[in-house]
Amino acid sequence: MCGIIGYTGQTYLASKIVLDGLERLEYRGYDSAGLAILTNGEISVKRDSGKLRNIREGLESGLPSNHLAIGHTRWATHGRPTQDNAHPHKDNNSRIVLVHNGIIENYLQLKSTLLEKGHKFLSDTDTEIIVHLLAENEKHEASFKDAFFKTLGQLEGAWALSVVHVDYPDTIFIAKKNCPLLIGLTEDEGNFVSSDITAIIKYTRDVVYLEDHQAGMLTPGNLDLFDTKTKTQINYNVERVDWNPVMAEKNGYRHFMLKEIHEQPDVIRNTIGTNTNEEDGSVYLPDINMSNDDLLGIRKIIVVACGTAFYAGLVGKYLVEKLARVSVEMDLASEFRYRDPVLDKDTLVIAVTQSGETADTLAAINLAKERGCKTMAIVNVQGSSIARAVDGNIFIHAGPEIGVASTKAYMAMLVAFELFALYLANLKSTIEVAVAKQLIHELKVIPQKIEEVLKDKEDILKIAQKYTQYKSMLFLGRDLNFPTALEGALKLKEISYIHAEGYAAGEMKHGPIALVDRECPVVAVVTDSPVYEKVVSNIVEARSRDCRVLSIASKGDKEVQGFSDDVIKVPKVMDLLSPLLNVLPLQLFAYYVADLKGADVDQPRNLAKSVTVE
Ligand code: AGP
Repeated sequence: MCGIIGYTGQTYLASKIVLDGLERLEYRGYDSAGLAILTNGEISVKRDSGKLRNIREGLESGLPSNHLAIGHTRWATHGRPTQDNAHPHKDNNSRIVLVHNGIIENYLQLKSTLLEKGHKFLSDTDTEIIVHLLAENEKHEASFKDAFFKTLGQLEGAWALSVVHVDYPDTIFIAKKNCPLLIGLTEDEGNFVSSDITAIIKYTRDVVYLEDHQAGMLTPGNLDLFDTKTKTQINYNVERVDWNPVMAEKNGYRHFMLKEIHEQPDVIRNTIGTNTNEEDGSVYLPDINMSNDDLLGIRKIIVVACGTAFYAGLVGKYLVEKLARVSVEMDLASEFRYRDPVLDKDTLVIAVTQSGETADTLAAINLAKERGCKTMAIVNVQGSSIARAVDGNIFIHAGPEIGVASTKAYMAMLVAFELFALYLANLKSTIEVAVAKQLIHELKVIPQKIEEVLKDKEDILKIAQKYTQYKSMLFLGRDLNFPTALEGALKLKEISYIHAEGYAAGEMKHGPIALVDRECPVVAVVTDSPVYEKVVSNIVEARSRDCRVLSIASKGDKEVQGFSDDVIKVPKVMDLLSPLLNVLPLQLFAYYVADLKGADVDQPRNLAKSVTVE
């Protein structure tokens, strides 16, 4: 997830607006930063890898007065965080420059056509194809505006775009699809474009939130917006934002955790990125850095992780074994590193980690390397210690996760395991193409299903209000949703301080059912699955001990109300994908219970975001 900002107007120094704004947007990504200024018909660009301060030095003093600038702070999705891959990107004649947040899914096809037409590429990003496509289209269209709209029609994927052209000295061309973009308007102090309100709230509270498939031209005194599908000009509402800057950092959400829960649809889209092909069911893992023979030679996989990442790895175990028929062992990293595990060159050790800095997980990887194993990481922070220590990576694109309780990173880890399991299954021909295509198609539809559940969050809040007084809770699930129960229990305990345990529902008779009474409610994941009836019988057993039951069930389930006190419904989905959807109500349930109890949701007591010590 990246941050973009732009300003056009006579009141402020545009470069200063952009630099200050980028600072406010750094939480969205900080792999690299850059800005472009248009003065006297010339575009000048300053960009560098690393933090914003790397470019600020050279820019603060001695800049010519400038009234139009755009800027970008990057969370690397395609292409390593290097200077060449940093935005803004220019065409070969330096007449057009742009910044982009999102993913261009068809960039490879477009790139090969543009290369044939002689365009020279400086980066290996997907974004750069847009600026060359604009330059190519400008040759054949009546105006740059026409070229701009034609280009948008050729792109597939997600974008929030700001584009500047030397022949339009006060205009920023803007476009939005599946990535946030808003316009800040003032009476006579110039106008702003930004990824979110954070970067511009100190200049204006009058904003226009762009919708998908909208594009237009922003000038100091005007905003013209068009629907890119119908090509018709459209009216827009100007909304008055009444946040203070601190709230703005959270985009108006009470906590980063709630904001990050809501970012999950985009995170799933960004993590899938351009790495699947629905036509033939294939998956690409550009950073795995292991040959087919390397992977076909693997006899055993061991997943090492901690906390939430471990539970994501447990879902991954089920997926890889079900789809690719490769044996997967699970190890808590803190245990793995001291238990003298049986390892050899045919073992692949996979670290699962948001931060890439967890000490136990890093130590586990170093042990695996010493023993000659292949190593891989499913990791959020590119350039982190673990990402650099392993042979290959699957990068998740969750963006910076500020809340200590992991939500969107967990979701992205699950997506990564779906892709990895499918990649291996294709390689070993253990899956039919039709099933692979269906899995990819349904995976791409998950974001909309998550948005459906998010619309019901008020109902989940009402349910949470009934559970705040309990001192203990039991979370139950089976098969792919046993890890979902474990994760739901961890979410609740770490932010509300209510004791909660996750259990395989089939384990109830072997002890946990002794806990169950009216003081210890059960939260059961009982969505449609091959083990549905089994979970129902566990719930009925618990209920006969007089305990309250909250069930997470599939829409259309007519029986669940008969054996539950409270029910949260989620849209039907392939069982292989159910952990992605089923964890969402548990995240929201834990969040609301904790917030209702007045807990410090983003920074729970005794915890840290990244445990870099043993
Ligand atoms: C998750 O909510 C916790 N904050 C914690 O369990 C976390 O998942 C664990 O510390 C692992 O961190 P990592 O993913 O950065 O390695």
